[in-house]
Amino acid sequence: MENILEAKNLSKTYLLNRRQHHILKNLNLKVKKGEFLAVMGPSGSGKSTLLYNISGMDKMTAGEVVFANEKLSQLNEDQLSAIRLKKMGFVFQQINLLKNLGIMDNIIISAFMAGDEKRDEISKRAHELMKKTGIIELTENEITQVSGGQLQRAAICRALINQPQILFADEPTGALNSSAAEDVMSVLQKINQEGTTIMMVTHDVKVAAHSERILYMIDGNIEGEYNLDKFKENSELKERESSLSRWLLNMGF
Ligand SMILES: Nc1ncnc2c1ncn2[C@@H]1O[C@H](COP(=O)(O)OP(=O)(O)OP(=O)(O)O)[C@@H](O)[C@H]1O
Ligand SMILES: [Mg+2]
Repeated sequence: MENILEAKNLSKTYLLNRRQHHILKNLNLKVKKGEFLAVMGPSGSGKSTLLYNISGMDKMTAGEVVFANEKLSQLNEDQLSAIRLKKMGFVFQQINLLKNLGIMDNIIISAFMAGDEKRDEISKRAHELMKKTGIIELTENEITQVSGGQLQRAAICRALINQPQILFADEPTGALNSSAAEDVMSVLQKINQEGTTIMMVTHDVKVAAHSERILYMIDGNIEGEYNLDKFKENSELKERESSLSRWLLNMGF
């Protein structure tokens, strides 16, 4: 299967108090088009740093990232922003919707920023996304008038409004209770089944069990990989969780 993203000898070093901190260390990674990839690992192992660097949000120190046949290190800031806006979607642990805009406007704003389409087309797509994620009844709501789980589903709609090729999610269920987390995961699974590649960071075995492949990071590198089948039914979930838990235990998690 074709790779949508590849990191080659990716390194990220921060300079702090005149000391170099090597956070990503010659890391290699391939993400296949259409896959649902999870990244796990101890706090501080570099998972968020990895997402920031492979998405061009942060500037790598050395190595290369190839995304959709483009070498990110060779692009300028404007080119990188255009790629992030049109080809990548982002969902974070701390839901960062704009407080002075309603749910609907938060979802469609980046489609206006992309500037390629008429308002009608954009709002039609926003409605479809809200239907798919189960929040269609919230089109008129302000962001203070919805639950955490609904807010995260709105954040997913926003991330998908420009039909990105890949969705990066950093602890997308981190701030949610377990039933809201399950709702968000079934939305992500549906979106993945419809073709969007997903790369998600999580601490939660239950959440990771929805993915297809798990990378385990330790101290700035990928130390292990665990493959699960493409997800079929919910009845599989418990089994997947326990086999994954055993593997993580072996990895020292
Ligand atoms: N801007 C920065 N400047 C200096 N060091 C940083 C910076 N950002 C992150 N770090 C350091 O890089 C290391 C990895 O951080 P990162 O946020 O990637 O970890 P993580 O695996 O996502 O952890 P968590 O599971 O807690 O979210 C940490 O030791 C952190 O202190
Ligand atoms: Mg993190």
